[in-house]
Amino acid sequence: MLIKRPDDIAPSEITPAEVYRARRQFMQGAAAGAAGLLLGLPEAEAVPLAATASPYRVSDAPTPFKAVTSYNNFYEFGVNKDDPAANAQSLRPRPWSVRIEGEVLKPRSFDIDNLMKLAPLEERVYRLRCVEGWSMVIPWIGFSLATLLKQVEPTGNAKFVEFVSLKDPQQMPGQRDNVLDWPYREGLRLDEAMHPLTLLAFGLYGQTLPNQNGAPVRIVVPWKYGFKSAKSIATIRLTKEQPLTAWMQANPREYGFYSNVNPTVDHPRWSQAKERRIGEFFKRDTLMFNGYADQVGKLYAGMDLRKYF
Ligand code: MTE
Repeated sequence: MLIKRPDDIAPSEITPAEVYRARRQFMQGAAAGAAGLLLGLPEAEAVPLAATASPYRVSDAPTPFKAVTSYNNFYEFGVNKDDPAANAQSLRPRPWSVRIEGEVLKPRSFDIDNLMKLAPLEERVYRLRCVEGWSMVIPWIGFSLATLLKQVEPTGNAKFVEFVSLKDPQQMPGQRDNVLDWPYREGLRLDEAMHPLTLLAFGLYGQTLPNQNGAPVRIVVPWKYGFKSAKSIATIRLTKEQPLTAWMQANPREYGFYSNVNPTVDHPRWSQAKERRIGEFFKRDTLMFNGYADQVGKLYAGMDLRKYF
């Protein structure tokens, strides 16, 4: 079984939040302090974030914090894996507001600190599979995106949800290069966005999101390739039509709208059959829908997943 249900989780498997946080903070403090000294950088502000353990947690070992926060894709800060950790200190995650608009009865803007209080924060341990062939296991903190979408009351016309990351070349120096048509844009079908697994994430490993992981708020869609999980979101827009994502616009042959993890449909440049879990030596088989088939398979019943890749 890949996702543990509440009654499968032995109490001994749940680390008390305080112990966990204290342990993390100690390790982070040591690591961040050392990195800051070496690089001469101000320490990024890591604010502890309390959360309750959610039943949505895979049993795979979490990827070490250091790898989660230093091996990233965030093209707004450069195209190399170590660029975001080196450059993302120019991002200012406070003050920040997120606008929810489009096909909704109650459009509104949320201050990030109010948005975080909309529902109890949960810790969920998800697999993240990148289309480039590597994967990680990350303890995220947040709540289901559905909670937010219900608040703004989607109209009967709403069929898709578009996520728009911040556009500000002052804060995001990578936006001075035209690698993508900025801002970064991603999208989901409304039923995918409403699925309880789709997470609005504010933190990881017991603290607020480090800038390089998409501070102050991102989505995480664990059954899709990592690029669907847009970082540093400024606008969430409900639409009638399927939105054009930044990757589809850049290369429609390589990037489809659905982008479900599927070991039987290869990317033109990379086989998707196997993946390297960061920190492991041998490759492991990639699982259909990244191992979440029982939860999300029915969203795609009857669809040709080769055509709708
Ligand atoms: N969001 C924005 N705004 N810009 C990006 O370049 N990269 C995506 C996704 N979200 C990206 C983004 C890709 S390709 C991946 S694999 C994941 O973020 C990586 O998330 P992580 O660095 O937190 O592991």
